[in-house]
Amino acid sequence: MRIGVLHGPNLNLLGRRDPTQYGELTLDAIDRLLRERAEDRGVDLVGVQSNHEGALIDWIHQQMGSVDGWLVNPAALGHTSYALRDALEASGRPFVEVHLSNVHAREPFRGRSVLAEIALGVVSGFRADSYLVALDALLAHLTADLADDPE
Ligand code: DQA
Repeated sequence: MRIGVLHGPNLNLLGRRDPTQYGELTLDAIDRLLRERAEDRGVDLVGVQSNHEGALIDWIHQQMGSVDGWLVNPAALGHTSYALRDALEASGRPFVEVHLSNVHAREPFRGRSVLAEIALGVVSGFRADSYLVALDALLAHLTADLADDPE
């Protein structure tokens, strides 16, 4: 099993950017935790961070043939990007939307996601643990699918 992990704009600043909302960990540290969890679960991860919508979409197109699902922290693109939504939908692979902060406890625009409607689910508010919870939820879903349809 192979999972694609997508981190959107400004997440390269984690560790320095508003730790009260996003926690103290850098993106590298979060990726390390995720890789450890994935190793424990026996799955492969491929990941990307970009500040550019088109680069994220190109990456989805490149990876979609070889991943079983996605973890997506779209950052602010989640509030605005129909193009990212279309790319994820076109990939035909399930995804969990991830946010470090509780987007519903912040400015009203953050509570709106254009991706959530087509996501398997959304995990928001647990800082770095949001990614780990989302990985387990995605894997539970994918393994249940395999059990239903061993083909
Ligand atoms: C975020 C929440 C978004 O509203 C914000 O634009 C981000 C990070 C989060 O992980 O909490 O950049 O996706």
